[in-house]
This record gives sequence, structure tokens and C-alpha cells, in this order.
Amino acid sequence: MTRRHDHPFLMACRREPTDYTPIWLMRQAGRYMKEYRALRKKYSFLEMCKNPELAAEVTLQPVGKLKVDAAIIFADILLPLEPMGIPLEFAKDEGPVFREPIREMKDVGKLRIIEPEEDLPFLPEAIRIVRKELDGKIPLIGFSGAPFTLASYIVEGGHSKNYILTKGMMYQDPSTWKTLMEKLSETLVRYLNAQIHAGAQALQIFDSWVGCLSPSDYEKYVLPYSKRVMDGVEKTVPLIHFATSSSTLLERMKRAGGDVIGVDWRVDLGEAWSRIGYNVAIQGNLDPVILMSSGDLIGKEVKRILDSAQGRPGHIFNLGHGILPDTPVENVVALVEMVHEYSSKG
Ligand code: CP3
Repeated sequence: MTRRHDHPFLMACRREPTDYTPIWLMRQAGRYMKEYRALRKKYSFLEMCKNPELAAEVTLQPVGKLKVDAAIIFADILLPLEPMGIPLEFAKDEGPVFREPIREMKDVGKLRIIEPEEDLPFLPEAIRIVRKELDGKIPLIGFSGAPFTLASYIVEGGHSKNYILTKGMMYQDPSTWKTLMEKLSETLVRYLNAQIHAGAQALQIFDSWVGCLSPSDYEKYVLPYSKRVMDGVEKTVPLIHFATSSSTLLERMKRAGGDVIGVDWRVDLGEAWSRIGYNVAIQGNLDPVILMSSGDLIGKEVKRILDSAQGRPGHIFNLGHGILPDTPVENVVALVEMVHEYSSKG
């Protein structure tokens, strides 16, 4: 089903040959851009996410400036947790905080399964506005967290170093863990399908912190639920399955699902691709810290990563994780240009 005039990003997700390697960047909207910082002076992060016009505006900020091949809707993986009944706060310099963590079966029992169009109407509305504004120029990506990464935030109460409470629930209270993961999975299926219905043309599942698990724990406690989410999403758009510090989990992540596997910089992209097999596409994997250095070094790394993909169809260039707030914007512009130029077959 080759659609010859489709967008390079969507063609690469389907492993079709493209004239150049498409690129977008995780956290391409954010504090490294002065336009974003200007809006953030007036609104809190959550206010911006919950106002569809502002979320649409922020989504589009990097598009013209960077000339990326896809937009990603401005939102957060933690947003669907609030209507489940878990109050969310972004404390200054602390990141996300859950003051009422979920630790026991009685906490899990109270969690609601959400109705996205009613509980989070701002998200589908922002997607509809962005699609209209983009007018077909580039595709729009929707996203969610994966069940494990979301569970880690609500069990710990925020970001964690060693995931002691999350692993504690997994090992010592498996029935609570199972019920929690089932409720999160069901919520995520609805949340992702609502984004497709509103117009998202691809979806990325972020399992940002799953790299803290052993392969056997991943297989037992996480894979079935990530699979349930990806199996439950309508098969009309490509799915990108991303995690960090996950080089030991890649084969299992592939089994859980995804048309594209997203890898971080800790693994060689070519080696990762040969391990998972060429029947899935791959996304990655520049170290975001490289963007803090000079054009020379960025160019060398871009070439190295493109070489490791060996020009195979199905490589989407990205960072190995999100852009860091202190990144010079001109380096990001240069990165996109270099990827397009060095990979161009025209
Ligand atoms: O990529 C994009 O441009 C789309 C927007 C996006 C945000 N968060 C906006 C955001 C996406 C895709 C996310 C995903 C997300 N959110 C993840 C998975 C990706 C990853 O980084 O691993 C995670 C773990 C979160 C949770 C989260 N949100 C944290 C830990 C933080 C605080 C850390 C920080 O950078 O301040 C956020 C806040 C957040 N999400 C910001 C943005 C632009 C910064 C908010 C601000 O302006 O202060």
C-alpha cells in the first residue's frame, strides 16, 4: 500500500523509501525557545496544556522555525491521571508531584477509567486546531505515557531514582499492581483512540523510565500491559514505542508492539536495528547533550547515525530523549538542515 505522495515521516514509519531521512525532535516545543518562554511568563505549564488555543500555538512554534517533518501535540503524559482521580501539580523546580500517591488496593480501587472527550476536551480540541492550521503540510503526532512509566509517577508521588515503592508493589503486592496496570492500560487505550479520532496521524508511547527493570521483570510485570495498550489502539495510524536506557529490553519492547521502536543514544542505532529486525522502523538517536556543542561535532554525529542506519528505509531521525532547556536554538535549526542535507538522495 504505497502512497507515493505521502509525507516522508509517515512513509518512514511504514518503512517505505523516502527522498531524505525525516526528522522531528522530542520536546521540540519547550523552554529552549524564546517564544515558549514568553508565553510561560503569563501562564503555568498546566494552564497552557489545558487551553486548546495556547496548546495549538505552542505545538506550532517549532514547526516553521525548525522545518521538522512532523509536529507533536503540546500536552503531557501525566494529563490523563488527573481525571482518573489523582491530583497533579507541577511544583517549581521539582517537576511533577502527586501529593496523594497510589500505594494500596484501596487507592487503586478509587481510580476512574476516563472518558477523554468529556474529561480532557482540551486535547482533542487542540489536535483539531493544529490539524487545521497545518493544513496537510506535515503530520501531527499524538502521544501518551506507557503504563509502567505512569505507574512509577503515581506510586512514587513524583520522579524517582530507584523506584523502590513501584518495584515494591510489583514484587510484594502483585494483585494491586495488576489492577493498577489494567486500569492504566484501559485509560490509555481510550486516551490514544480519542487522539486518533481528533486527527492525530501517528502516536508515540513514552515508556521513559522502564529501563530501570530487568528483562525478566519487564516481561512479567510490564510487557502484557504495554501490549494491551498497543493492541487496543485502532490500527489506522503508525505507533512509535519509545523508552530510554532500554538497550537490554529492545527485543521485548518489539514484542509488546509498535511499528517504530524509539531508541536512546546509549545503544548503537545500527546494532539495535539488526537485533530487533528490519521488519520494524527505528527512531533516534542523537544524544541531546551533543546539541550543546558546536556545529562540527553535531555534523559528525549526524553522519555517524545516518551511516549506522545504512540508508535503509524506515529510519526516523530524532534525539535519544527530549531537547534540554539550555540548548541553543540555532543548533537545533542546524541539526534539522544537516539531517535533510546529508541524507538527501535527490
Ligand atoms: O515533545 C513535545 O514537544 C511535546 C510535549 C511534551 C511534554 N512532555 C511537554 C512538557 C511531551 C511529549 C512530554 C512527555 C513527557 N512528560 C514525558 C515523556 C518524555 C520524557 O521526557 O521522557 C515525561 C516523563 C513527562 C513528565 C514531565 N513533564 C516531567 C518529568 C516534567 C518536568 C521536567 C521538565 O522538563 O521540567 C514535565 C513538564 C513538561 N512537559 C515541560 C514541557 C514543555 C516543561 C514545563 C515548563 O514549561 O516548565
